Amino acid sequence: MAIKALRGMKDILPPISEKYLYFLKNCSKIAQNFGFEYIETPILEETALFQRSVGESSDIIGKEMYSFIDKGGHDISLRPEGTAGVVRSFIENKFDRQEGNFRFYYHGPMFRYERPQKGRLREFHQFGCESFNESSVYEDANMILLVKEILDFFNIDFSLKINSLGCKKCMPTYRKKLLEFLDSKEDQICKDCLRRKATNPIRVLDCKEESCQNIYIDAPKLLDNLCDSCKNDFETLQNLLKENGVKFEIDPFLVRGLDYYTKTAFEFVSSHLGAQNAIAGGGRFDRLVEFMGGRPTPAIGFAIGIERVLDLINLPKKDRDGVYIGVMVEEGLPLGFKIASKLRKKIFVEFPYVKKSLRAHLKGADKTNVKYAAIIGEDELNSNSIWIKDLEKKKEEILKIEDFLKIFEV
Ligand code: HAM
Repeated sequence: MAIKALRGMKDILPPISEKYLYFLKNCSKIAQNFGFEYIETPILEETALFQRSVGESSDIIGKEMYSFIDKGGHDISLRPEGTAGVVRSFIENKFDRQEGNFRFYYHGPMFRYERPQKGRLREFHQFGCESFNESSVYEDANMILLVKEILDFFNIDFSLKINSLGCKKCMPTYRKKLLEFLDSKEDQICKDCLRRKATNPIRVLDCKEESCQNIYIDAPKLLDNLCDSCKNDFETLQNLLKENGVKFEIDPFLVRGLDYYTKTAFEFVSSHLGAQNAIAGGGRFDRLVEFMGGRPTPAIGFAIGIERVLDLINLPKKDRDGVYIGVMVEEGLPLGFKIASKLRKKIFVEFPYVKKSLRAHLKGADKTNVKYAAIIGEDELNSNSIWIKDLEKKKEEILKIEDFLKIFEV
């Protein structure tokens, strides 16, 4: 039986692959405008890296990891997300010992053993940015503006949800209050929430069970328990967003599915995608670098789910571009081949290796959306010339081969 791709894993085929490259090219340029530099980290890392950073209480680590023992007996995993690897690299390469800001962007495949459905894959791709060593809340606003800039570029409409999870000062107070509340509801919450209660209680707020959600409406609110500094920063963030034309809503239940977040958390959602509607998510992770063995370094980042946004992007209509070379006599093939090879140094060339009628060639040229059809018939071959049709201007002429090549400066 023929071998098929694994469940939840997809080929990226034309014309979607063209959209994919179009997205990456423009996203990268926008991220560079914001001062981000490209970083690439390995797809495989030690399992412990993800366990410690993404966190044992998250569904990703609890249920969705592609982990295995390699030939050397090492416990390794396919990355489920990009932040952990970038943080590992940041510390390993001693960036945490240097002054100043470090801003990195990346893209590539991520792997989560989830139940596949529309918009949810086991191998998917992210475009992400991570900014290190900037504690100013202006950077939080800057990151959100960067995502908005990217989505605006591709005409993707979205809504934005924000929340603050507090810092190492106010988080423990909130945790204590939440635990007291959960103690009183222990017989009513689901099994997963009981597990979360023991590992990372604030993750219960993210529970998808309706019965749990109804209970947590009365739970103590994160935003009512922020320290003064977190409260000020969250207010400043809201003002900056308002002043810069970013619409948002505060979602007090937004805690994100990964354990490393502190302070600002945000998610961009689309109303055009169905159940899996999150197109980008991120937030601060001010404690992660230190927790992973580096020097204390504030940080913030986000990742966009590329497959999800590709569903919402239309490629701009392309202008006619390039040349179609066709031969009407078999003997014209070597000359056509030579011209095609020369022109390809400068432009796109389509060159079928078979003789055809003029009509058939013009049809082919139209289909490939080129600007020029250049045809070699018997007369042209004998006079070292070529018949050209400008398909935009609908103009025809016969040129010496060397004059034709000059049009393209080759
Ligand atoms: P995340 O929210 O887990 O965050 O993923 C970011 C985006 O990846 C989601 O909003 C979604 O668009 C896409 N995504 C996630 N899972 C799947 C899936 N199974 N199939 C298709 N698309 C998916 C992170 O990964 C964090 N590392 C973001 C971050 C960076 N936070 C700070 N820095």
